[in-house]
Order: sequence, then structure tokens, then C-alpha cells
Amino acid sequence: MKVLIVDDEESISSSLGKFFKIDDIESDAAENGYSAQRMLRENPYDAALVDLKMPGMDGLELIKWMRSEGFRMPIIMASAHGEIEDAVKALKEGAQDYVVKPFDPEEMTIKLKNLVEASNLRAVVESNKSGSAENKTTFIGESPSVIKIREVIKKIAPSNATVLVTGESGTGKEVIAREIHAFSSAPDGPFVAINIGGVPENLLESELFGYEKGAFTGAVNRKTGLFELASGGTLFLDEIGDMPLSLQVKILRVLQDRKITRLGGTTPMPINARIVAATNKNLEEMVQKGTFREDLFYRLNVVRIIIPPLRERSEDIPLLAASIISKYNRSMGSKIDGFAPEALEALKKHDFYGNVRELENVLERAMIFAEQNVITLSDLDLRSSVSRPDVQNKPKEVLQEAVSLKEIEKQAISRALQRWEGNRTHAAEELGISRRTLISKISEYGLE
Ligand SMILES: Nc1ncnc2c1ncn2[C@@H]1O[C@H](COP(=O)(O)OP(=O)(O)OP(=O)(O)O)[C@@H](O)[C@H]1O
Ligand SMILES: [Mg+2]
Repeated sequence: MKVLIVDDEESISSSLGKFFKIDDIESDAAENGYSAQRMLRENPYDAALVDLKMPGMDGLELIKWMRSEGFRMPIIMASAHGEIEDAVKALKEGAQDYVVKPFDPEEMTIKLKNLVEASNLRAVVESNKSGSAENKTTFIGESPSVIKIREVIKKIAPSNATVLVTGESGTGKEVIAREIHAFSSAPDGPFVAINIGGVPENLLESELFGYEKGAFTGAVNRKTGLFELASGGTLFLDEIGDMPLSLQVKILRVLQDRKITRLGGTTPMPINARIVAATNKNLEEMVQKGTFREDLFYRLNVVRIIIPPLRERSEDIPLLAASIISKYNRSMGSKIDGFAPEALEALKKHDFYGNVRELENVLERAMIFAEQNVITLSDLDLRSSVSRPDVQNKPKEVLQEAVSLKEIEKQAISRALQRWEGNRTHAAEELGISRRTLISKISEYGLE
């Protein structure tokens, strides 16, 4: 793993660099935004740590530039002044995290590692040690459509069928891909993800197919492609709608023949990776326009999972919000334990055009601002998008006291139990938790 440290104070970069080395993290230092730009163009980095205040181009500008140029690695913003507003701006521009100087290098190392691990922007190869699907992120929600999606996943995951997942940005397509892998017949095999849109077109083919030594100038060694790497596991082709037409035909051939030939190679090799593809584009429309091959579309569309936008399933918001808050409580060390009723109501009414990702951003910001252990309406910044009138006019539940995260969970469990007339196995399945966990929660909440 290689990190770019952008800081005008040379002493910070060099001491941090030394610290990273202990953990086998390589790093380069750039002393200002301009040299950072040059280095980013010339080297691949897995993450960037960017100082906010720098002479010339400041950190915010650099982040903006990086995102506009398509650099998608995780970015951590460092600010010497601890100015919350800048931190929020940085998060808006696409930084994943921020730290206030002076920071603890050890904490920074952990943050970096976690972010890089979570980043779906590069090809990731993971070997899943624990075979059970229980500890994995499940696709959270209790709306009928989410329940249906979880059922479909369980049903089709064990087969080898190709799956196409579609939905707006931030609806959880990657979560679904991972869940399919977790419930597949080979959950211990690798989960390999590639973001088609994130790889330059000229590298995409060799990334996917690999090459033999000497296949082209610069091919000094043999390279294994992702189809091969994913053998015995799952290959997640994210943003498949960004696949250039010239490559689409080659992908089609792999799906048909279940064989690949490395670039410059002669012998085709069998491929036994499960393929999951995802996109937020309208592939049917692309097929009509001739920008996506119809035959490839049908090859991919064997099983289709369509994730509805979050604004069409606002019932999922309380549960999602509760799970997001617990997650950030753990990583931020905060102790938020619920919502003021108006806050939860506002979240449910808001049209999240950025879907669950926007919900996460809104809540993360709210948690930074929250002065008590409950998120209030004034902590939420929901101005960014417009509410649709029909959603606005929905009858409101009138609640008096703050709604705790536990209460949200309790309600979800009791509703699931009601739906299944007390059948715990079914209720647990629907909730995406183990039966054991359900039983212990039932007694915790006194739902017997
Ligand atoms: N149902 C869900 N349960 C739990 N977490 C979810 C759910 N849906 C989305 N998320 C979370 O929301 C964020 C966005 O999800 P994800 O990256 O899978 O979206 P996506 O559809 O792949 O978006 P994009 O098209 O922008 O790549 C992630 O942090 C993910 O963990
Ligand atoms: Mg995605």
C-alpha cells in the first residue's frame, strides 16, 4: 500500500513516513498542491493524506481537483486549526475522513488501513476467512422491496448464475454483490472487485485478462488478470455501463466460453469465477442507443436485482440510520444513542437523491455537530436537495420523546415477528441476523 502525504511542513511528512514504514506502508511526500498533482499523475497511490492549509493551492482545492480528475482513492484531510467548517467542506468535496493536527500517527495508520480496505475503487482481492455469512454486512432494511431482495439473494447465491445489480448511486449495489458472495457456495474464495469506470481504458483489458511476459513493450513480467484471480470466488464488475464497446465483445466471449486467454498468450484457460455486475446506468436505454451490446446485456441479465431508490422506501431509513450511527459511534468514539422525533421525521421525509451514501454523509456531519447524545433537527443539514411534495404530505407519526436506536431496533424486530406470526427462524432471516442473535434480542427487549 502506498500513500501520498501532501503537507508543506516537511517534518510532518518525513516523521509520518517513518511511522508508516513500520506498518509496511510506503509513502511519498509532496510539499504543495502542485507537486501533489504531478505525483498523482505519475504514480499509483492507494490513499492520500492532504493538509488543509498550504501556500498556493490549499487542500480543499486539491481534493476538488483530484475528484474532478477521477482520482478515487480515499483521502484524509488534516487540519491544523480544527475548524469544523473546513472539515465539513472537505467531506463534501469527497474526502472520506479528516483529522485534527497534531494527530496520533498510530490512529492515522489504522484509519488509512481501514479506508483503503473499504475502498471499492481499485481492484480488491479478498480472501474471506470466516465462511459464514452471519458477520458480514447485510443489506439492511425492512421495506417489502428490501425483504424481497434478501430472499432473492439467498435463493440465487448458491448457484453460479450471473447477476446484474442495478440502482441509483449509493443504493448499496456493492453491499449486494458482497452479500451474494457471502451466501455463495464458495464464500471462502476471493471476492475480486473492479470499478470499470475507475480504470483508464488502455489498462482495462490487461487488468481483466492479464498478460504474458513480452506481450507488449513494458510487459516485463507475466501478470495475472482479475478473471483468473477471482477463480473459485466472485468477480464483481462494478460500473459495467462504463465498459468500452471494444471490450464488451471480449467480456461477452468470456461469459460464453468461460475461458480467457492472457494478452500475448495462446492457451485459453478455464475460468470459474461467479460474475456479479452492477451499474447505475440504464443499460436497456444504452442498448437502444447502441452504446451497450444487446448480447452482453442478456448474458449479464440472467438474474436481475433492482434496488429502488431510498426515497421510495423511507421505511428503511430508521433502521439504516441506527446502523450507520452505531458504525460511526465505533469509529468516532462518540455515544449518540438516538434521534429527536422531528429529526427522524425529517430524515424520513427527505428525498435522498444520493441514497444511503447521502444518508451516511448527513448523519456523519450531524454527529460532528451534535451537542448531546441525541441528534436533533438542527444538527441535520438537509438543505442540499429538494423534497417532493407528495412525500412531504405523508401523514406524520407524532412522537414526543427522542427515539433511541434500541427502540428502532426493537420495533423492527417486533414488526418482523408479527409478520411471521412469531416464527423466529423466518423473522431472523428476514432481518438478516442469526436466529441466536434474534433470540437474545427478543429477551433483551422483553418481546417474548
Ligand atoms: N441496505 C443497506 N444496508 C447497509 N448499508 C447500506 C445499504 N445500502 C447502502 N449501504 C451503505 O451505503 C453506502 C453506499 O453503498 P454502495 O457503495 O454499495 O452503493 P452503490 O450502489 O455501489 O453506489 P455507487 O453506484 O455510487 O457505486 C455504503 O457505505 C454501504 O455500506
Ligand atoms: Mg458502487
